[in-house]
Amino acid sequence: KIPVWLDCDPGHDDAFAILITALHPSFDLLGISTIHGNSSLEKVTNNALSLLTAFGRPDVPVYPGSRKPFMRPAIHAPAIHGESGIEGTTLLPVPTAKPQSTPAVEAMRTAIMATPANTCALVVTGTMTNAALLFAAFPEVAEHIKVLSIMGGGFEMGNITKWAEFNIYCDPESASSIFTLPSLSGKIILSPLDLTHTVLVTEGVREVLTTPPSTLRTMLYELLMFFAGTYVEVFNMTEGPPLHDPIAVAAVMKDLKMGYEVEECGVKIVCNGEEMGRTVKVAVGEEGNEHEGDKVLGEEGAGKGGVRVKVGRGVNVER
Ligand code: BDR
Ligand code: CA
Repeated sequence: KIPVWLDCDPGHDDAFAILITALHPSFDLLGISTIHGNSSLEKVTNNALSLLTAFGRPDVPVYPGSRKPFMRPAIHAPAIHGESGIEGTTLLPVPTAKPQSTPAVEAMRTAIMATPANTCALVVTGTMTNAALLFAAFPEVAEHIKVLSIMGGGFEMGNITKWAEFNIYCDPESASSIFTLPSLSGKIILSPLDLTHTVLVTEGVREVLTTPPSTLRTMLYELLMFFAGTYVEVFNMTEGPPLHDPIAVAAVMKDLKMGYEVEECGVKIVCNGEEMGRTVKVAVGEEGNEHEGDKVLGEEGAGKGGVRVKVGRGVNVER
């Protein structure tokens, strides 16, 4: 089994990342940390606990993480996920477990350090404040990480602005600290919007989910219908929605009958100005060293080479 830690802001699509990490036999889910993002820290934490109760895994410990980025106020996404962060169903149960009191990054450190070197997967499906704090406070953790799989960014498209994807836009400085951290070079897999928008939960896929009927399936279906509805309202996207976050989980699964194609490059984050939160592909630096890289997209702000990142550019699911 792959030891995995999930850092998330549930979130309709985060809910499916929790579902897979909590129930798929490939994974040993060590714990969940929550992060400001789709809604407030309190709400996303309650959502994580409720989902785990619904999935029959209230034993998975949930640790509330950062309430806001270091350098900015928090931003939420009620237009996409509703005020609670996960609206659209009345079937979410009252959680049977409480949030843990240990600070999230301390719990992450303890759990990840207890795994053998180079074995643990850390999946981040929200803004990157917890992840940045973890590697800044406890640099030794990087050695135990086999893969840091992130849902975020977009190279040819944005969603919160024309340039930027939500998770990166909310805390670009934290994202930048991760994409320039030498000890993570070669360990990062990024699933950007360009990829997640190719994996759509079309009506046919939603229907498959409802058979055979059960309360849990109805709840998941209702969540997907709400998410599909906001994608129509906000993005006028009728064939969808894209279910971003579980793609970052799928990227680390061994036995999935799925091709996950990557390209290797550096990733630069634009932290200021009109293009704030934009992800830009740059040349890979000398491993571990920042350097002047080639500007692939040729925009202001590009130019420093990042560490080695595998950027997902195609998935191929066998049904
Ligand atoms: C990302 O933003 C959030 O709203 C989703 O949960 C996903 O992680 C997509 O841009
Ligand atoms: Ca998310």
